[in-house]
Amino acid sequence: MIKEADYIGSYIREDQCPKDEKPEYAFIGRSNVGKSSLINMLCDRKDLARTSNTPGKTQTINYYLINKSWYIVDLPGYGYARVSKTMREDWKLMIRQFLVERTQIRCVFVLIDSMIPPQKIDIEFMNDLGENNIPFVIAYTKTDRLNKGDTQKNIILFQKELLQSWNTAPEQFITSAEKGTGKTEILQFIENINQSADK
Ligand code: GTP
Ligand code: MG
Repeated sequence: MIKEADYIGSYIREDQCPKDEKPEYAFIGRSNVGKSSLINMLCDRKDLARTSNTPGKTQTINYYLINKSWYIVDLPGYGYARVSKTMREDWKLMIRQFLVERTQIRCVFVLIDSMIPPQKIDIEFMNDLGENNIPFVIAYTKTDRLNKGDTQKNIILFQKELLQSWNTAPEQFITSAEKGTGKTEILQFIENINQSADK
């Protein structure tokens, strides 16, 4: 599991990011979905990644080195409502460009708020990842705020949306940063990929 987590740096372009070719796992999703909170939960740290009630807190590409062997990448959220449409588009393009250029990324975790019905921007983002052959999985966040039945309902709705464009839905994780839900599963998933890459 995670014994050590160190903040390495914040960047705005791919060519500034670490060059040592360690495996990377990126966390992305709409602004305020809980990316930074999930990262802190996985690392057992309260404020490794900065969280906030104000959407748009994370505006840079932030690198955390885990157990000296792989990186967690905290990305700025897309679709932040309080900036101009042009800025939102620029933002989305920056993230997309980073993900396309960054070949070290083993898997992107697309975070989806379990309390909110499927949003076009999330589906579009995933379709984009698929078209660019970028591997991704889904993590539903904040599941502590709903009872099991309602979480399940939203997940089924989301799956239905996804299956409009995909033959099979990607792997999914049910998470809560508050309760630690999904931690073991996500860390095991990452461990498996890291090990298969070692061989
Ligand atoms: P930006 O960096 O602004 O895009 O946001 P983010 O996606 O990093 O979200 P962040 O982790 O800052 O969390 C946003 C808000 O949601 C904060 O008020 C968190 O406390 C809350 N939150 C995040 N995860 C959970 C969770 O699992 N359960 C509950 N109840 N609240 C959560
Ligand atoms: Mg954040």
